[in-house]
Amino acid sequence: MIRLGIIGCGNMTGQHLNSFEVLKDTLRVSVTCDLNRERAERAKEILSAERFDTDYQNILNDVDAVLIALPHQLHYPVGKFFIEHKKHVLMEKPLCVKEWQCLELTKLAEEQGVTLMTAYPVRFWEETLKMKEYMDSGIIGDVFQMTIYTDHYNPSRDTRGTWMTCSGLGGGQTFSHGCHYIDIMLWFLGNPVKGTHLGTNHGTPWMDREGTSHAVIRFENGAVGYHTGTWGARGTTHPYKMEIYGTDGTLSYSTGGENSGKIMLIKKNGYDEEKRLNSVLWEKSKSSGKHTDGEIAHFVSCILSGETPITNGRTSTTGLRVIWKLYDAEMKDEVADLRGLGFNLPFIEEPICDFDCDSEAALADYKF
Ligand SMILES: NC(=O)c1ccc[n+]([C@@H]2O[C@H](COP(=O)([O-])OP(=O)(O)OC[C@H]3O[C@@H](n4cnc5c(N)ncnc54)[C@H](O)[C@@H]3O)[C@@H](O)[C@H]2O)c1
Repeated sequence: MIRLGIIGCGNMTGQHLNSFEVLKDTLRVSVTCDLNRERAERAKEILSAERFDTDYQNILNDVDAVLIALPHQLHYPVGKFFIEHKKHVLMEKPLCVKEWQCLELTKLAEEQGVTLMTAYPVRFWEETLKMKEYMDSGIIGDVFQMTIYTDHYNPSRDTRGTWMTCSGLGGGQTFSHGCHYIDIMLWFLGNPVKGTHLGTNHGTPWMDREGTSHAVIRFENGAVGYHTGTWGARGTTHPYKMEIYGTDGTLSYSTGGENSGKIMLIKKNGYDEEKRLNSVLWEKSKSSGKHTDGEIAHFVSCILSGETPITNGRTSTTGLRVIWKLYDAEMKDEVADLRGLGFNLPFIEEPICDFDCDSEAALADYKF
């Protein structure tokens, strides 16, 4: 039985509830921790933990592993503390706000022989796994484009100085949310070659950096990956949509419209509805795709088996490097050179990114 401590009992706490229920034979939440006493105590009740604390340094003896769900600038120091004490760490995305921090945590976890995993739940969603399976089966032929749309409205954080809005804490919409989809594109399409990013905070004035973003990446195999995300959509037909285009057809999954929750195979195009050959390949059942089930199950399985998680320090750093390179090129009006940043290429151990965020200055603004 793995004893899990949860550090940071804000918005993410409730998201994991189902996962803990499903995994109750292998994992139990032993302690909840938040600077804010009420939140720590409420999470203890919700998750049936044994106790709560307001100081993460007090919980070492209660845990084998921790889920760190803290504001981004705290991922590094808190992660380091637990890895140094040989605890396994599931880190909410993004791994850290700076490249050197990612490199240090990754190396430290490898030296200490503990599991360090980034919580990228989208990687484990059934719909994502199915899209990958269908793509790899060759059903749509040779893939030349993948498009991911994420349209949300997040004005609730319209005060400055939260992890979502504050550039000094790393974000940007692409960094704070797009990181899921850059990770997915690197997994689906392989080694990136070059790319561009254009973002704006027009329409989302609560954001320091972009609240709306467009990232386009060209891959070694000739395919192009495109993620467009916004936190300013006052309305949309597709809150979430993934499409993969091949020489023999298109795979489409969307959470909006009449085909919501279905993976469609679209074999012909055209304005005439009758000429379209659409078939439903897969449909999400009510019980599938719980938000973080797959992710937590993978974390537990890696701890028990000693295997490296698929969303590990190296792959997460690689995904964030792509974003930092895109940001840097955007500021310089250049196209980013992304060669060398594939998941299956040798990991680059030294810092290679020029982009940096001023997290120290941002802390002065930050509201806990
Ligand atoms: N995987 C996903 O899809 C997903 C979705 C939303 C958020 N997240 C990530 O989860 C993390 C947390 O996000 P959130 O929305 O829950 O944030 P939040 O601001 O709602 O909660 C953060 C909590 O951390 C507490 N905290 C701050 N400093 C602390 C300290 N030193 N010790 C203990 N507690 C402290 C705060 O009091 C707060 O309760 C972020 O990394 C975010 O990117 C992931």
